[in-house]
Amino acid sequence: QPYVIGIDIGGTNTVFGIVDKRGQILRSGAIKTGRHEDVGDYLDELAQALNDILKDPFSKDTIRGIGVGAPNGNYFSGSIEFAPNLPWKGVIPFAQMLEERIGIPVALTNDANAAAIGEMTYGAARGMKDFIEITLGTGVGSGIVVNGQLVYGHDGFAGELGHVIMRRNNGRLCGCGRNGCLEAYTSATGVARTAREILDLNPDTPTLLRNIPVEDITSKDVYDAAVTGDEVAISIFNFTGNILGEAFADFVAFSSPEAIILFGGLAKAGDFILKPTKESMEKNLLKIFKNKVKILFSGLKEDDAAVLGASALGWEV
Ligand code: BGC
Ligand code: NA
Ligand code: ZN
Repeated sequence: QPYVIGIDIGGTNTVFGIVDKRGQILRSGAIKTGRHEDVGDYLDELAQALNDILKDPFSKDTIRGIGVGAPNGNYFSGSIEFAPNLPWKGVIPFAQMLEERIGIPVALTNDANAAAIGEMTYGAARGMKDFIEITLGTGVGSGIVVNGQLVYGHDGFAGELGHVIMRRNNGRLCGCGRNGCLEAYTSATGVARTAREILDLNPDTPTLLRNIPVEDITSKDVYDAAVTGDEVAISIFNFTGNILGEAFADFVAFSSPEAIILFGGLAKAGDFILKPTKESMEKNLLKIFKNKVKILFSGLKEDDAAVLGASALGWEV
């Protein structure tokens, strides 16, 4: 069969596409992830949406396999387990449930792993053997590549770097139920939390962010304000980058990557996030690693990397 399908499950949207052997997305679609509390209902809608794009010149018979990237996804079992940022709780045998509905073999991996595969095959990590892909979205995830291979670990969950604990004292509550995780500070929602905290602590400092109801502030609002030179907005990114850089310094010690590649919503903040992250990483790095590790932005469009990366699994099923 000449094609595969890649599916990226995000906290908000699920995007998918039919991909050929050269990595071109030939047809794509999307549904909302959060509309159904029941994963069976969600999968019914997904299967229907896939059937809709499998029309002329495509058909089920032309698809070799389906690859899925999902938060808390396990490559070995094909299940999604205890995902804090998805509506479905517990252990879900996702690959199997989708396969039953669509009649095409399905493989599943962690969403950040899928992005790392996409980056390695088509993006900024082409030719790199050692790098870490960091996804900064609703959650924070990572795909760790060592010696050209994605690290899965003993049970398939390796690389949950969004949940390393950065603050042992009074750390923010994370969706995983623990306190002080990287994700609670550097995810899109973490940035919004930082905004609220900084606004609370500096009630007299003028900022554009006061024009927005404090509960509604998003990381995009912070970016829009930073672009106009808003000092408070810039300090929010500085705080975020500072923690991210501390974490990166430790990640470097662990696997000595050539680069750390930023992917996902927050990467759109460009230099506002890159500069403080780099400074903080260099400051915290072990001497032997100083000035050796690049921090890069993904070379792929956000939706494409994850879909392409996931689709690569479709050839393996
Ligand atoms: C999950 C990861 C996922 C990341 C990004 C985290 O909360 O634990 O598995 O890769 O969010 O979606
Ligand atoms: Na991962
Ligand atoms: Zn956590």
